[in-house]
Amino acid sequence: MTTLQASDDHDPGNPSQTGGLPTYTVDDVKTHDTPNDLWMIIYNKVYDVTKFANDHPGGVEVLYDCGGVDATEPFDDVAHSDDAVEMLRPYLVGEVVRSQHVQYRHPRPVAPPIIKKAPVVAVSARDKVLTERIVLSALAMVALTSFAVYVGIQVVKWNF
Ligand code: HEM
Repeated sequence: MTTLQASDDHDPGNPSQTGGLPTYTVDDVKTHDTPNDLWMIIYNKVYDVTKFANDHPGGVEVLYDCGGVDATEPFDDVAHSDDAVEMLRPYLVGEVVRSQHVQYRHPRPVAPPIIKKAPVVAVSARDKVLTERIVLSALAMVALTSFAVYVGIQVVKWNF
């Protein structure tokens, strides 16, 4: 990824400068602050949420208030769900120039973390048979012990 050396070199929206995402300065983003052209910065990424604003579950007004600015803090304050973070994805239009990147205290990935599932341990048929035998043996032991105790009690009774 190319780092911009001087702001004079900056060509807003030129993808060749970041090896993919177009880069914008904070001032570039500031020019997109109206309901019909609504951009905002979240975690150093630039989003065009013009088409999303009316569908925002938290209402349009809060988004208009963040038009053209860094909305990371208000976005985080609401403790948006991972689904909300994922919803940002289609509106990504670029990245803030590296020299203006902010170090956020609690950076959050745009994509939700992948939840690792516990590995499934295959139980072989032999293991199953062995387990069944152990359980049956234990049950037989309990039955025999109970029978022996019962017989013992009867013998003691007969003797008195
Ligand atoms: C532009 C990116 C945004 C997206 C994709 C987004 C998405 C969502 C979603 C999906 C919800 C429903 C609850 C949830 O799943 O978390 C929500 C609720 C909400 N959002 Fe956003 N949001 C964005 C930006 C913002 C910003 C910048 C604010 C500024 C304050 C904000 C304030 C709220 C509020 C107040 C609620 C309602 C919370 C509640 O009733 O519990 N959102 N948002």
